[in-house]
Amino acid sequence: MPTALIWGASGGIGRALVEQLLAQNWTVYGAARQVDNIPNGVAQRFSFDAGKLSSFQEVALLLAHEIDALDRVIYAAGGIQYTKVLELGQQNWHNMMNINLHGAYYSIEATLPLMRDGGTFVVLGAYPEKITLPRFGAYASAKAALQPMMEILAKEQRKHVFRLMRLPAVNTPFWESLPIKVPEYALSPSTAAERILNALEHEQQVIIDL
Ligand SMILES: NC(=O)c1ccc[n+]([C@@H]2O[C@H](COP(=O)([O-])OP(=O)(O)OC[C@H]3O[C@@H](n4cnc5c(N)ncnc54)[C@H](OP(=O)(O)O)[C@@H]3O)[C@@H](O)[C@H]2O)c1
Repeated sequence: MPTALIWGASGGIGRALVEQLLAQNWTVYGAARQVDNIPNGVAQRFSFDAGKLSSFQEVALLLAHEIDALDRVIYAAGGIQYTKVLELGQQNWHNMMNINLHGAYYSIEATLPLMRDGGTFVVLGAYPEKITLPRFGAYASAKAALQPMMEILAKEQRKHVFRLMRLPAVNTPFWESLPIKVPEYALSPSTAAERILNALEHEQQVIIDL
């Protein structure tokens, strides 16, 4: 059975990914801040904080005792703070970068030694060039930086596959931090997860627009 690790397995899309991979007979490990929100059926739950590289390394160390290798790692953590750029302050700016950008980097760095040759790293992205409204600056900046990171990683680490999945609106708790309604056209988390997993089977480019 192939093995996957989902970071952010407690979130709307992360949970749907866990559930669909389990339904496809994957062995799935889940990592989250709120571990109780990781769906049942995972082989093991781990705790991590996107701002702490050591928490990613601890998960990788624990996992190394459990598995031969990973086939797929998905970084599905993320979040948004709806505040003007210059009102964020250093801590909130760093927090946005940690959740959306540094955590993706830490997840890849920590689990690369566990990844099977040909295994796939997936990060969930957005359409930063379309996110130009006031108060979205930190989120858009972090998501934009993922693009060159993943494209260049794909060239530097040729034994592995790298995919940045750019998602449209998805109806998850992500929207609870925003003073706007979830758009009617938003995907359900299960449709988003289906599209991500389907694209992993059929698309070859690093950056994939879903
Ligand atoms: N929903 C959308 O419309 C949409 C659109 C485009 C892209 N995306 C991207 O898709 C990804 C998943 O979003 P979602 O909609 O599933 O959001 P969500 O339901 O709000 O889930 C967010 C996830 O991120 C985790 N997280 C937040 N801060 C963290 C931290 N400091 N340390 C560790 N984990 C942290 C949460 O963990 P806990 O619950 O355990 O705290 C949760 O698992 C994000 O990268 C988001 O930017 C979403």
